[in-house]
Amino acid sequence: MTHKDKYAVFGNPIKHSKSPLIHSLFAEQCEQAMHYRAVRVELDGFRKAASRFFEEGGSGLNITLPFKGEAFEFAQRLSDRAMRAGAVNTLTRADDGVIEGDNTDGIGLVRDMIVNLGWAVQDLRVLIMGAGGAVRGVLEPLLRERPRELLIVNRTPQRAEQLAQEFSDISPVEGGAYSLLGRRQFDLVINASSAGLSGEGPDLPSYLLTERSCCYDMVYGAEPTPFMRWAAHHAAWAVADGLGMLVEQAAQSFYIWRGIRPETRPVINHLRDAMDYP
Ligand code: ATR
Repeated sequence: MTHKDKYAVFGNPIKHSKSPLIHSLFAEQCEQAMHYRAVRVELDGFRKAASRFFEEGGSGLNITLPFKGEAFEFAQRLSDRAMRAGAVNTLTRADDGVIEGDNTDGIGLVRDMIVNLGWAVQDLRVLIMGAGGAVRGVLEPLLRERPRELLIVNRTPQRAEQLAQEFSDISPVEGGAYSLLGRRQFDLVINASSAGLSGEGPDLPSYLLTERSCCYDMVYGAEPTPFMRWAAHHAAWAVADGLGMLVEQAAQSFYIWRGIRPETRPVINHLRDAMDYP
């Protein structure tokens, strides 16, 4: 049998993870001999499972919920991005044997918006809804694009204020309650609140969008999310879900591991087709 380098994604739950499919499509496209599987890790078993994986010769891991914080602790060396994010979604055994932690979520979001969708972020008025781990993970790459302003609003205003404080050295960012929206308008609205996941629609002012506004939901699914439906109803110029972000964050992990940047478009299309016709 030919040797294949070993990779995996650790999470809980993990059954519906698309990462094995995405990475096998990348490997095929880039002719890489690698094996990638999904592993359901017990909630109290992350450190043990990750240690064993690398002891047994594993090359790299993706980490998904709820272990991104533990992966941050587990990493022996951290990228600047991971340090800022306080979370790690990619662990790699470096040439010197050290386990490095990185966070590719923010690059994934930014690449999907800029390269795939053609939405430049520079100089835009950006609104983010939500202030959880998902937002912390993407703020640094987003702010490096130099939006004109970035406002984070959240049900618990203190979490948004805290994020704004931590990241405002990169570029102007404010945070607080939804009431801060006032009568302001935004060119780009990103939903990272899990409110829509339970089927509740967001309660947003109707004048939030201009005729050129783009709306991005970091979640994806076979159906448009409540936020995407709201955006379409309010005549957003463009609306997208987070499928492209998922593929782009995987592509960045693949690049870290293999030194090759896969083409993401065919993989996004493949997943989209599979979702439309189950
Ligand atoms: P993640 O890692 O996906 O960001 P999280 O840290 O649990 O997950 O964050 C979920 C986000 O959705 C939070 O911003 C949360 O608001 P709170 O900080 O106030 O908890 C937001 N959220 C969840 N349910 C919500 C709801 N019903 N209405 C408004 N915001 C909600």
